[in-house]
Amino acid sequence: MTEPITEAMPPWRPLLRAAMQREGRSVAGRWVQLATTGLDGSPRVRTLVFRSWAGANQLDLFSDQRSEKVKELANNGASELCWLFPKARQQYRLRGKVELITAGEQPELCQECWHKLSDTGRAVWGWPTPADPLDPAAAFPERLSETAKLPEHFVVLRMRVKAVERLNLGPHPHQRTRWSAETYWRQQQLNP
Ligand SMILES: Cc1cc2nc3c(=O)[nH]c(=O)nc-3n(C[C@H](O)[C@H](O)[C@H](O)COP(=O)(O)O)c2cc1C
Repeated sequence: MTEPITEAMPPWRPLLRAAMQREGRSVAGRWVQLATTGLDGSPRVRTLVFRSWAGANQLDLFSDQRSEKVKELANNGASELCWLFPKARQQYRLRGKVELITAGEQPELCQECWHKLSDTGRAVWGWPTPADPLDPAAAFPERLSETAKLPEHFVVLRMRVKAVERLNLGPHPHQRTRWSAETYWRQQQLNP
């Protein structure tokens, strides 16, 4: 979870952090839209909570290994995140590859992530398989304490960011900026 010192901080990170800070205590400032390609080739998108940075160019999301998105990411992990900061009036699009990290592979990391969650946050991993037909008799706990066993289907989605595009609606004209790991994060201004 700690930032490796070998990777330099890319120039878009402080900008994104400043936009995030403008959101203050709003929980929505940590909501991101994760887009993937469905198994039938058509687009899929859903909201996830940004959990933390895991290095200069990597970020962590948590999910359920039984969910559709995980099956979609299991192939090559290609995905895009859209992150809206309404107060800063900025949109960030982060493109990259998602690595799936399970407790079987990295037990300590997953355990640490599991402990960081609130009791109510943890509860959803105690629910039946996502998207299965609802069984009215099934149990849906409201809370899971930190002493609850780490579920096998808990998974960390670690995105390695390869390209970033920011749209800033603050100034006139709007600013559109692109950075790519391929060009060592050299900043490129584009027409908005
Ligand atoms: C505000 C909000 C936050 C969410 N956070 C997460 C999350 O952190 N992880 C997650 O797996 N699903 C989260 N969800 C649920 C997903 O949006 C989605 O419904 C679920 O993961 C199933 O997606 P899938 O069928 O595409 O795999 C969140 C939903 C909302 C509305």
